[in-house]
Amino acid sequence: MRIGVLTGGGDAPGLNIAVYSFVRLAERNHEVYVIYHGWKGLLEREVRKISSLDLVDFAFLGGTYIKTSRTNPFKDEERARLLEKNVKELGLDVVVAIGGDDTLGAAGEAQRRGILNAVGIPKTIDNDVFGTDFTIGFDSAVNAAVNVTESFKTTLVSHERIGVVEVMGREAGWVALHTGLATMADATLIPEKQVNWDSVARRVKEAYERKHWALVVVSEGIKEYGGPRDEFGHARLGGVGNELADYIEKATGIETRAVIPGHIIRGVPPSAFDRTLAIRYATAAYEAIENDKFGVMMAYSNGELTHIPIVEVVGKNKLVSGYWLRLYETYWGDLN
Ligand code: F6P
Repeated sequence: MRIGVLTGGGDAPGLNIAVYSFVRLAERNHEVYVIYHGWKGLLEREVRKISSLDLVDFAFLGGTYIKTSRTNPFKDEERARLLEKNVKELGLDVVVAIGGDDTLGAAGEAQRRGILNAVGIPKTIDNDVFGTDFTIGFDSAVNAAVNVTESFKTTLVSHERIGVVEVMGREAGWVALHTGLATMADATLIPEKQVNWDSVARRVKEAYERKHWALVVVSEGIKEYGGPRDEFGHARLGGVGNELADYIEKATGIETRAVIPGHIIRGVPPSAFDRTLAIRYATAAYEAIENDKFGVMMAYSNGELTHIPIVEVVGKNKLVSGYWLRLYETYWGDLN
């Protein structure tokens, strides 16, 4: 078979391992091509035959060696036709799409229209892909966010200040929730849970009065500031940490600082968990292809590797809910 591999959307720690381990397995029996820059590379025919030896030196680094883009191949029908034409002319029997909800959603749409055989692997630091417990990159990003927060906490303790850490995550609060829990923040703000900023300031002041410092973790997605949207309709987020810190300082009269690590938590080397998750996903994707099982996304559910129909992922987003929301409430209660 002729197999193409692409990575799309925001980069994430563990992508290179996923690509490398898939190529290592697939090159035994198949021709493997990398498609550079995600779906854009399939529209522009940026495709090259690859061997695992080309990838081995980069396999354990963050980022994605085969590049990425946020190009939506179904932005209009002209693009969709070009995609179909290129897949045919390049003779690709299957495309392994490694991405978040947008990239996988496009793979699902391509499968639905019969344009290609898709096999999906979920990755994003946001951990918001429907149908899987964990995406590649999430664990590494949370570990990085925890490290940043612990460094920040050291200076909050020394200077007896309030600190606000803003983390990425888009409309899902997974990164903030896990960072807030792992550092036992005094308040954590996530898009899934409405809070009142006066209640947050009151809670933080009480915590400050007890221990002479206080910590708040906030997800970037609790507020949008407008601006341009990408081809999948997402607004650029970020900046609410500064606004919240100013608000808390005014409301409490206590010196407050904000830290926004932004992309720094995304660019780290993959954690051991993400490395093995990437390898497990790549192995399962290879096995699916060997068994002519197409139109599926690999998924991690209750510790087991499984797969779900990739069309199920289209247009869905996994938000903090159920057990995780109850855990949130156990520690931070109602801040409304
Ligand atoms: O989807 C991953 C993510 O890091 C989000 O958490 C964040 O909102 C967005 O990408 C940032 O995108 P960009 O790298 O285009 O600034």
